[in-house]
Amino acid sequence: MAKKRILSGMRPTGKLHIGHYVGALENWIKLQNEYESYHLIADYHVLTTDLSTEEIYNNTIDMLIDWLASGLDPEKSPMFRQSQIKEHAELFLIFSMLITKARLERNPTLKEQVRDLNIENVIYGHLGYPVLQAADILLYKGEAVPVGEDQVPHVEITREIARKFNNQYGKVFTEPEPLLTKFARLPGLDGDAKMSKSLGNTILLSDDAETVKQKLRKAVTDPQKIRKNDPGRPEICLVFTYHQKFNPSEAQQIEKDCRSGVLGCVDCKLRCAEKINQFLAPILERRKKLEANLDYVKDVLIEGEKKARVVAEQTMSEVRNKMLIG
Ligand code: TRP
Repeated sequence: MAKKRILSGMRPTGKLHIGHYVGALENWIKLQNEYESYHLIADYHVLTTDLSTEEIYNNTIDMLIDWLASGLDPEKSPMFRQSQIKEHAELFLIFSMLITKARLERNPTLKEQVRDLNIENVIYGHLGYPVLQAADILLYKGEAVPVGEDQVPHVEITREIARKFNNQYGKVFTEPEPLLTKFARLPGLDGDAKMSKSLGNTILLSDDAETVKQKLRKAVTDPQKIRKNDPGRPEICLVFTYHQKFNPSEAQQIEKDCRSGVLGCVDCKLRCAEKINQFLAPILERRKKLEANLDYVKDVLIEGEKKARVVAEQTMSEVRNKMLIG
């Protein structure tokens, strides 16, 4: 039986953080064995919130290095830039006729970005962000989309567009399902519900051991736990969430000792930093090798783009045929 197909992607905003890993990348790496996977670098999507293009290429390479260092395998999962496959733009244009402005204005992810980035006037292309994303997914006939929680509304819009196209012109697309992880949203070091580059509350996959230690030292914990022996509330503490993810075998004991006041925040944070560093060590190692071999990294893109282009051209010719513009 043919494997189901995954399409997922990220915007190249530079080096990735552990929230990207826990929310999506870890899932991609696991799923690449069960599914036929395609992974997209959404470089056009960057323009929705930042028009300057000087950094996009370097950020693309940085992100790709993080993908590869974390274990994404280019033999199994082609990795490619959206901007290098013209069919994305073409399908985006067609899809933009299949959804209303009012529907896009209701998109909660857009509202959240507008708030976080203090955007006063939304650009037309930003409003259309999920339409381009729908083109990304459906061009490869992605059936499953492993993403973080914030992307679920975009997958829902993709489903609506697929349905609308199929009803109007005949069936080309299947409606994709989002695939979430348990920690689809990892809290930031400042206690914000979300780890995010724009909020400056991240631990990077490329942070060295000392940096991780320093960052955790300053992390916000339960404000009621002022002295070491005060009882704490792990359920509201981001450091405890990190323990659950990166130190699962000790999490239960830590929860107990925090509540009873046996364990203070300083020690708790040190133990957490140690575990995160154990997780990051092999990634840092592989990162170093990849940085020393940039030609290989660039080849991954070129090869991925060749493979992606074949699929995109095939889908686009089906679309054109159904629309009688073949
Ligand atoms: N919007 C996604 C993000 O910010 C990136 C993205 C673009 C994407 N195209 C996609 C994700 C297609 C999944 C599928 O993370």
